[in-house]
Amino acid sequence: MKTLGEFIVEKQADYPSAKGELSGILSSIRLVAKVIHRDINKAGLNNDIIGNSGIENVQGEAQMKLDAFAHEKMKAALIARDEVAGFGSEEEENFVAFDTERGRNAKYIILADPLDGSSNIDVNVAVGTIFSIYRRISPIGTAVTLADFLQPGHKQVAAGYIVYGSSTMLVYTTGNGVNGFTYDTSLGVFLLSHENIKIPQNGKCYSINEGNYLKFPMGVKKYLKYCQEEDESSHRPYTSRYIGSLVSDFHRNLLKGGIYIYPTSTHYPLGKLRLLYEGNPMAFLAEQAGGLASDGYQRILDIEPTELHQRTPLFVGSKNMVEKATSFMLEYQNQ
Ligand code: AHG
Ligand code: MN
Ligand code: MN
Repeated sequence: MKTLGEFIVEKQADYPSAKGELSGILSSIRLVAKVIHRDINKAGLNNDIIGNSGIENVQGEAQMKLDAFAHEKMKAALIARDEVAGFGSEEEENFVAFDTERGRNAKYIILADPLDGSSNIDVNVAVGTIFSIYRRISPIGTAVTLADFLQPGHKQVAAGYIVYGSSTMLVYTTGNGVNGFTYDTSLGVFLLSHENIKIPQNGKCYSINEGNYLKFPMGVKKYLKYCQEEDESSHRPYTSRYIGSLVSDFHRNLLKGGIYIYPTSTHYPLGKLRLLYEGNPMAFLAEQAGGLASDGYQRILDIEPTELHQRTPLFVGSKNMVEKATSFMLEYQNQ
């Protein structure tokens, strides 16, 4: 059995010039995963963790206590390292420049959704953490700027998520395939359990909040009807599965095949999910596993971000399913 630590060291050896900075960052994310895992597992017993914090985050959404907890733990773990120059999070209005000598000389910035699917915490349903790592574009030796955080997704150096499900798993890519590690709680280590994950090209599962059907664009409505039609050769009707936690829905579809859609709607004209914290990392993972990610019309990883908390529609998953869904978007464009 190979541990995540061993795997990281082994991969680093493939790049003799690498100084181990990225490996260091991945190690601190591993530590954050263990801390959040520990606290989520006690959530039902601990009033400091469960429930609403009574505060709204920058997006005007209710912040759960665990959202704030996960954000603080992540920030603290990254600040403690020499390798990180700045941090942007769904739970903080502005990015944080680690403006110390070490921070100014560090090469990488991190973007994160510290706790994804937070409405599921109180009811014991799987949640996640999403992270995305870029090389800074501002000069080393200075404090990072907004431009470092607004890079298109295809510039990501690494991305991944932790899913706190029936077991806790860490899944990540550094642009050379996708690997998954399962947390062995008795040993306190992540073990390589899913090597070189490939998403099936054709899935049988679609994941969308269908309660919003009437608010969806025509292309999505038509695609959903297509998913529900009977056709033996393409194994339709497909199965509908929606947890309401992107990480968990994505993880299931990654392993079994499927499509996750959060489209624009009359309620969310720009989509609900955030490009930098949710869209880009999931798109990078999907493509690395042989799948696709689109906003309905263009590749997610090609979008040039203009704002830290920018939203995007998201169609992500099995290649043939995303292609089909986006073909409906094109056919019924502007309807
Ligand atoms: P977050 O908890 O980080 O705000 O993300 C919630 C997201 C995503 O995880 C999930 O798929 C989606 O919001 C669910 O939204 P709806 O409740 O509108 O379906
Ligand atoms: Mn989220
Ligand atoms: Mn979140």
